[in-house]
Amino acid sequence: MIGLFDSGHGGLTIARTLAERMRHLTFVYLGDHRNAPYGERPSQEVVALTRAGVETLFEQGCRLVILACNTATAVACRTLQRDWLAKGAWPGRNVLGIVAPTVEAATQTPWAVTEPQYPQKYRTDIIAVLATTRTVESAVYPEEISKRCPRARVVQQACPELAGLIEAGAPEAVLDEVVGAHVAALLERLDGRAPDWAILGCTHYPLVAHLFRRHLPPATRLLSQPDAVADSLEDYLHRHPHYAAAGGEAAGEVRLLSTGAAPPSVGPILSAFWGGPLAFASVDTVSATGVQDKRRAN
Ligand code: DGL
Repeated sequence: MIGLFDSGHGGLTIARTLAERMRHLTFVYLGDHRNAPYGERPSQEVVALTRAGVETLFEQGCRLVILACNTATAVACRTLQRDWLAKGAWPGRNVLGIVAPTVEAATQTPWAVTEPQYPQKYRTDIIAVLATTRTVESAVYPEEISKRCPRARVVQQACPELAGLIEAGAPEAVLDEVVGAHVAALLERLDGRAPDWAILGCTHYPLVAHLFRRHLPPATRLLSQPDAVADSLEDYLHRHPHYAAAGGEAAGEVRLLSTGAAPPSVGPILSAFWGGPLAFASVDTVSATGVQDKRRAN
């Protein structure tokens, strides 16, 4: 049983692709709808909330948890791996993020290789990263890309309100305007040059990928983060098959859990994306230290 964690709905873009491509596995998805969005929160809160979500998934029986959220990965993944799991918390369990598979796909280079890799099959002169404020501030994408493709110019664009609008099921026209404005701001800095790649570095953004496609230059390739994560997880499980071993649960199932008190509202974009209505069960999470609990505050 593999756990998937996101601040809310966004990680469903990853969950759906993983479930379609790995039908022999069972996934448990936890959306922290009670505390979403994460993208503008202070880093220490993102770490505390992510750790609580991962612990909740471990308690559900998951041995491996994927942070299906760029913000949680950029801010918390390394800290949880090095300062928590490596120090003996939850022996035999692991947590992985989604930045590494995305950087591997964008640079056409395995994560373990941190030397410049040229020549490359596809051009990587300009790589655009559209993400939340916290992911942009972490600089994880430019740093990791430039180790492998030092000649690439990485241009980041924070889209602060976008994940929250998607999460709230904002109308298409509003989303289109916001996406258009952010893409215009990005392109303005490139003096008319088209990025070779655009990384939608927030798992919510594939839900509006068609809007990004409409506003980005036709020559810009959109990198599919869900496919990159699926490629990488397949490879990881091949090397570490014990994480995929069945624990008695039915294969092919995706259980959807939410920290929200009631099943979260489902907008038309989300149900269209999932291919049907979403049925989340509420779960009580391990409490996150240093983060105000909205249930107690209200
Ligand atoms: N879906 C998340 C990401 O990939 C976080 C969005 C948010 O909660 O702000 O960054």
